[in-house]
This record gives sequence, C-alpha cells and structure tokens, in this order.
Amino acid sequence: MRTTVGIIGAGPAGLLLARLLHRTGVDCVVLESRDRAYVEHRQRAGMLEQGTVDALRECGAGERLDVEGLVHHGIELRFEGERHHIDFPGLTGGRTVTIYAQTEIVKDLVALQLADGPPLLFGAEALAVEKPDSAAPVVRFAHEGRERTLNCDWVVGCDGGHGVARAAFPAGAGRTYAHDYPYSWLGILADVPPSCDELIYARGATGFALHSMRSPRVSRLYLQVPNGTDPGDWPDERIWDELAARLAVDGDWRLERGPITAKSVTPMRSWVHEPMRHGRLLLAGDAAHIVPPTGAKGLNLAVSDVRLLGRAFAELHRTGSTELLDRYSRTALERVWQATRFSYDMTKMLHAQPNEDAFEHRMQLARLRRITASRSAAAELAANYTGLPLVPQPQESAESRW
Ligand code: APR
Ligand code: PHB
Repeated sequence: MRTTVGIIGAGPAGLLLARLLHRTGVDCVVLESRDRAYVEHRQRAGMLEQGTVDALRECGAGERLDVEGLVHHGIELRFEGERHHIDFPGLTGGRTVTIYAQTEIVKDLVALQLADGPPLLFGAEALAVEKPDSAAPVVRFAHEGRERTLNCDWVVGCDGGHGVARAAFPAGAGRTYAHDYPYSWLGILADVPPSCDELIYARGATGFALHSMRSPRVSRLYLQVPNGTDPGDWPDERIWDELAARLAVDGDWRLERGPITAKSVTPMRSWVHEPMRHGRLLLAGDAAHIVPPTGAKGLNLAVSDVRLLGRAFAELHRTGSTELLDRYSRTALERVWQATRFSYDMTKMLHAQPNEDAFEHRMQLARLRRITASRSAAAELAANYTGLPLVPQPQESAESRW
C-alpha cells in the first residue's frame, strides 16, 4: 500500500487531520488498531475551545455539534463556600466554549471518513515506523492476520500516549519533560440533569471537585482521589456525598443526584516530547504531549496540532514548499507549553496536596481570590481557557501577544 501521508491512530487528531488533508487534495491512509465500536465509545473529555469548534465546522463536522453542543459563556469557581462567575465573552472580547463530548466528535468524523474519505482501516495495528529519516518512511502494520507495509512520503503519529510513533525517534533525537501529580480523578457519568448551567471548578475543604455535563439530561462529575484509588471503594452514595460536600456553597444550591452509569479513575500527568518531528515523522496530539484534565486542554491541543499540520501539508501540496512543515514542531510547541503551563497552574491551584501544609492552602486561596478580585487576573484565566491563538500574534502590547 502507498500513500502521501500515513496517519497512525483514529482518535480526534488522526481523524481530523485526515479530513483536513482530504479537503486540500492530499491523499492519506489512517491505521487504527482498535475496532470502530471501541473508538466510538471511549469516554473522554468534552470542552471545546472556539478554535476547535471552528475547525470541526470548516471540515464539515459541525452539523450535529451545532445542534447538540452546549455553548458556555463562562465557568464558576467555588471555594470557601463562595461562588464566582468568570464571564468569558466579557473578558475576552466575545469568546465562548462549547460542551460536546469527544466520543460524539469521533463518531461524526468516522462517519464522514467512511462516507467519502480516504481509507480508514480499523483493526490495523502499526507495529513500527521504519526509515523516518529517509524520503520514503514505511509503517509496518498488522491487519486481518497479515503483516503489511504502508509506504509513505510522510508519517504522522496520532497514536496517543502509548503509541509506536514516538518510539521511532532514535535515542538522543528527542527528550520528554514530565511531571506527576500526587492525585487522580474519579469520574462519573450520571443520568441526571446538570445542577448548574455552567462548569464548576471547586476547591473544596477536602479537595477538588468538577461539575460538568454531557447533555441537558446527563451530568459528568469528577472528584480528586488519591493515586491508586480503586473505584470499587467508592459506592454511589459515597461519591454523591463527597461531591455535595466539595461543591457546597453558602445559600441555596443543591447537587441533584441520579443513577451513575459509568465510573473510572484517571491518574494525572503532564509531559511534553520535544521535538515533535524527526525527519519525515511528525507527532500530533497525545502522541506528543499529555496534560492533566483540569484546564480541559488535551483534545483542544490535539486539534490545534493537526490544524497546523493541515496548513503545512496544504502549502506543500500547493507550492512544493516544506517551510511550514519545517516550522511545525517549533510553532506547535509554543502553544503546547502554554497549555501545559495553564493546566499545571489550574491543577495546582485547585487540588489539595496529600499531607497538605496550611501555608500552601493559603497560597491557593490567595490565587483564587486574586482571580475573582482582579479583572486582569480573570482575563488571563479566560484567555487561556477559551484558547490562545493558533500561532502567537505580533506583539502589539503585552496583553495582545496571546
Ligand atoms: N496502531 C494504530 N493505532 C494506534 C496504535 C497503533 N500502534 N496505538 C494507538 N493507536 C490508536 C488508539 O487506539 C487511539 O484510537 O491511536 C488513537 C489515539 O487517539 P487518542 O488517544 O484519542 O489521542 P488523540 O487523537 O491525540 O486525541 C487527544 O485529547 O481529551 C484528550 O486524551 C484525550 O483522547 C484524547 C486526546
Ligand atoms: C468534561 O466535561 O469531561 C471536562 C470538562 C472540563 C474539564 C475536564 C473535563 O476541565
């Protein structure tokens, strides 16, 4: 098999890149190790920056998103029994975010790809990327019990945090910067209408809690738990009691309870692999970087990486120039590090440290108070949360640089 761009992985990064390439006439093949049902039902994030929504619309995947997506004009911060609204449009010149589950994005993109797109092979596990330094890199993969090869001009690893693409960087050709956090998230889906129109990020007395949603009938909630937590130790009643305690405010607000339909524990980690390119092998999305979910940046970063790649391959196709591809790693990493910083800061500001010292807790409250008291501090949070520009803007003033 032969193609111009071999894409490993049919998560949001690989699927969106395939659509972007298809629209500009660049041919590609997508290899996905899992089957379609698995890929379409994986529970993941669901908060989309404006730029992510725009990119999905541009490539024809906006129809259901525009009907079912829930547009949010801000978030709520809770601490010490207080609730504070952060007004995104007012602080950012009109920007909003949209709740639409990643699983639904994947379903929409898979349907488009199978309808008119280039080949998307499920059950096709990439085993190795060979000759990434050459002009003709090869992906070796297993499909329907046979080992096959995909000969490419370029290979893009969109194969997530445990994929094979990153492993094809020779020793010494890259470096990973990592940070582990001493807590995890216990996430639930519940058949109950959201208790609030907005996402709530709460620094409760015993730790972090997040109130989110999937639809007007389904709530998504998270609790900070110790690393190594077994979800079996958290019966439904205990989860609701702890969520209610951490989300509690002075005044009348009540957390609605309902049947829990899914429960899982996710550890929190930050890492970034530099560079995001070696020869003709490029990395995008979780294959190149992981952020903790507190800033809701994972999916949005995957989308911004492939938007840059879409532009770079379009330019190559149109003019023969590799200039944008040559700049890809540097350009993408600028945004990746900003999102990594934002996710790190949000995580550290809102979670209780195990064996927390009282000073640290006071620092967290001081940060939260600053955001709720100062327009410029709130604007900084809003700018990062709603999404920084795809490429840094010329520095007219310190504030407009991002
Ligand atoms: N061969 C083929 N496919 C592979 C291989 C392989 N060797 N290894 C992994 N894959 C597939 C996985 O099965 C998965 O479908 O690559 C895909 C990677 O998708 P994601 O993990 O969803 O990563 P990405 O597309 O970068 O999306 C970014 O944002 O919300 C976050 O972490 C969340 O999924 C999320 C992400
Ligand atoms: C989610 O809805 O799953 C979600 C929202 C915001 C986050 C993390 C997860 O910061």
